[in-house]
Amino acid sequence: MMRGVTQDPAAPPVPRWRDLIDGAARILAEAGVPSPAHDARALAAHVLGLERLIGIGAVEVAPGEAAVFAGLVDRRRLREPLQHLVGSTGFRHLVLAVEPGVFVPRPETEVVAQVAIDEAARLAARGTHPLVVDLCCGAGGIAISVATEVPASHVVAVDLSPAAVRLTRRNAASAGVGAIRIEQADVREVELLADLVGAVDVVVSNPPYIPPDAVPVEPEVRDHDPDLALYGGGLDGLDLPRAVAAAARRLLRPGGLFVMEHAEVQAAAAREMADDAGFTDLLTVDDLTGRARALVARLSPA
Ligand SMILES: C[S@@+](CC[C@H](N)C(=O)[O-])C[C@H]1O[C@@H](n2cnc3c(N)ncnc32)[C@H](O)[C@@H]1O
Repeated sequence: MMRGVTQDPAAPPVPRWRDLIDGAARILAEAGVPSPAHDARALAAHVLGLERLIGIGAVEVAPGEAAVFAGLVDRRRLREPLQHLVGSTGFRHLVLAVEPGVFVPRPETEVVAQVAIDEAARLAARGTHPLVVDLCCGAGGIAISVATEVPASHVVAVDLSPAAVRLTRRNAASAGVGAIRIEQADVREVELLADLVGAVDVVVSNPPYIPPDAVPVEPEVRDHDPDLALYGGGLDGLDLPRAVAAAARRLLRPGGLFVMEHAEVQAAAAREMADDAGFTDLLTVDDLTGRARALVARLSPA
C-alpha cells in the first residue's frame, strides 16, 4: 500500500524514496558496483515488498524502512551479491531462492537449459517421457526449468553439496514440481545413478570449470560463490567437466544428447574431450552475448 505525501508544512522534510534510491545509486557507483541504479532500485523494491517500483518515487520513506534500506545498501557497497541480499534470482520463468553457500544461477546458463528443454520437448512431442539428468544442479535452475517447461519429462538432479541439494528441493517444491528426483552424489563416482545407465535421453550440466590461475576478479563471485562451485580442478579447470562427460557417456542411451556449459576459452578443449569420450555431432553454442559457452554433443547411435 502506498503512503501519501506529508501535509504539515512545519514538519521537517520527510525523505522520499526517489532521494534514497538516487543516493544509494551514487554510493554503489562509487564502490564500483557494476549496475548501481538497478541494484538500488532492486533493494528498495525488496524493502517495500514490491516486484516493481513504478510510481514509488514521491512516496515518503517510513523511519524503519530507511534504516533497513541503508543496511542493505551498505552490504551491497561491500560487494555482497544482490541476489543474497534479496534472497532470490530470476532464471527463465522461475524465481529461485538463493542463499550463501550455493552458487547463484546466471543468465548464460538459461541458454544451456534451453538446449536441454528443446531436446526434451522434441522427444515429448513424440509421446515419450524424456529422461533428463542435471549434473551439478546447484540451486536447481536447469532441472526445474526442464520439469516445468516440459511436464512430460522425468528429471533427475545431482549435486555434491548438501546445501545445494536442500535448495534444489526447496525450489522444486516452490515451483510445484515435487516429482524431480534429487540426489546428493559425486559425479566422479562410477556408481553414479547406476539404475539409469544407458537409459537417459539428455544429460545437461553447468559444472565447476574455472582453472586455478583464473580466480574471478568480481568480489561477488570470488568471495561469495563457493569454491566447490567455481574451480573445476586440474591445470585447465576441466577435471570436473571431464568427469561429467564420462558420467554422461555412461548414463546416456545411444543417440542421447549431452549439453555442458564451459568458459569461452575452453570451447575447443570441450569438443576434444567429447570426441575422446565417444560423442559425435559436436557443436559449440554461444551465450546471449555471442561468446562460445556450451558444448552440445550426441552419443554415437550404435
Ligand atoms: C557452477 S555451479 C552450477 C550450479 C547450477 N548448475 C547452475 O547453473 O546454477 C557447479 C555446481 O557443481 C557442484 N559440484 C562441484 N563438484 C561436484 C561433484 N564432484 N559432484 C557433483 N556436484 C559437484 C557444486 O556444488 C555446484 O553446485
